[in-house]
Amino acid sequence: MVRRLVVAMGFVAVILAVPVMAQEEAHLSIDASKTGARIDRHIFGQFAEDLGHGVNEGIWVGPDSTIPNTRGIRNDVVSALREIKVPDVRWPGGCYADEYHWRNGIGPADKRTATLNSVWGGVIEPNTFGTHEFMDFLDQIGSEAYISINVGTGTPKEAADWLEYMTAPQETTLARERAANGHPAPFKVGFMGIGNESWACGGNMTADYYLSQLGIYSHFVRNLDPAQQAKQPMLRIAVGPGGPSTEWTEAIMKAYQHHGWSWDIDGLSLHWYTMRGWPPSSASTGFGVGEYAETLKSTLAMDDLLRKQEAVMDKYDPKKNVALVVDEWGAWHAPLPGTNPQFLVQQNSLRDAILASLNLNIFARHADRVRMANIAQMINVLQAMILTDKEKMVLTPTYYVFKMYVPFQDATFVPVTFDAGTYTQGSVSLPRVDAIAAMDATGKLWLEITNLDPVEPLEIEADLTGITAKSAKGETLTAPAVDSINTFEAPDTVVPKPVAAKVQGGKLVLKLEPKSVTVISVE
Ligand code: AHR
Repeated sequence: MVRRLVVAMGFVAVILAVPVMAQEEAHLSIDASKTGARIDRHIFGQFAEDLGHGVNEGIWVGPDSTIPNTRGIRNDVVSALREIKVPDVRWPGGCYADEYHWRNGIGPADKRTATLNSVWGGVIEPNTFGTHEFMDFLDQIGSEAYISINVGTGTPKEAADWLEYMTAPQETTLARERAANGHPAPFKVGFMGIGNESWACGGNMTADYYLSQLGIYSHFVRNLDPAQQAKQPMLRIAVGPGGPSTEWTEAIMKAYQHHGWSWDIDGLSLHWYTMRGWPPSSASTGFGVGEYAETLKSTLAMDDLLRKQEAVMDKYDPKKNVALVVDEWGAWHAPLPGTNPQFLVQQNSLRDAILASLNLNIFARHADRVRMANIAQMINVLQAMILTDKEKMVLTPTYYVFKMYVPFQDATFVPVTFDAGTYTQGSVSLPRVDAIAAMDATGKLWLEITNLDPVEPLEIEADLTGITAKSAKGETLTAPAVDSINTFEAPDTVVPKPVAAKVQGGKLVLKLEPKSVTVISVE
């Protein structure tokens, strides 16, 4: 039995039974006259924690390094990240944020305080990459700051001082100190996370205790730059749940509903990883189609998880003022043998690329509430965009998905309906295809189609309503095996290639490779 999956304008998927059709063909309908929410570019955000080689070595090599750099920041990494138009970077954590003290990371490099990174491996943290270096990095890649402030071991005063140091244009002592350290103009801080996983590594707080802290931090820790606040106010993001349970969300959103003038939030975070067991045991390469299917099945649970959290948010915030911010998501596999297990180093395969596309599509369908997301993590940690080893750098399959999705940043959601049946592997049954469409600011229609089936190619015919189409072109990302990876020696195993797509009799026609992510533009 083939099923028809209907993704309606309100992002509601409905499953209906329809007659049997050939499994090798799928029919899509795209109605460009019916648009939905804007797919916020911040859905494509990144997360860079001071963890392992995520920042040190991955971004920061220091100005004296033989690795080509600009003021200590790797040039190769910067130019790769510019290509994927990173909208924001969350830093310094993660769990590390609740042990980070910003004063250790300012002032002359040779006078920085070296500390221990007790959360991640107990290694020395030289703090040579601090506030100014982070902001310089953002300028170089063209991105915005998402700062996580320390609620676990810090104080409201320490956090308020950090924000004053970064954002005050007035001649305060802290602003003068910033100027003396090389940056007279205020830094732009677009987003502020108030704690991280406060129910666990952020201090093992109850929801009530966290709420008492939230009231204090949200009130006293301010962005002091009127110019920035007038143009694009800094968004405050509260700690949210870490899975399907809605208890924490209930508590925060109920309090939000009755909040007075003296505190407010603009976002509620959600952390959820695709992982097998704890500690995570799935190998990041060297697996077969069975594990591939299980991983994709498990990642698709993100949709249901969002629905559950959104239902609670809708109850207390029907106008959707508070964004759901999925600021940690992605595949968390077992550490690569021979690496420090605390550095969370894993390989990144075609399976991770497909997993990324499925999650990005889910976020796009929830775009009215999910207005920000940050994949964990940007470089050398978990589901990374980039892997480095000293002077070597390689771009991962996940990097290429983010690159292919750039046209969807700030584009307007367009509903797609499709018939494609299921793909079954052992006891696991999955939708064979996933797809989203969007209209960009120039009126160009973009379509993404993922073929989850690792063996069968798929002929696609798509009806196009609300657009007079003449031509189509696009790229596809696939590879010989589900666990194919890019390595320093063979960096082009999983890279996008042009795909033959055409418009014929007003319909879009193309063939999808098995296990592939394809992005098409129609004009
Ligand atoms: O991304 C790794 C860790 O996972 C983060 O530090 C923490 O917030 C989460 O549990």
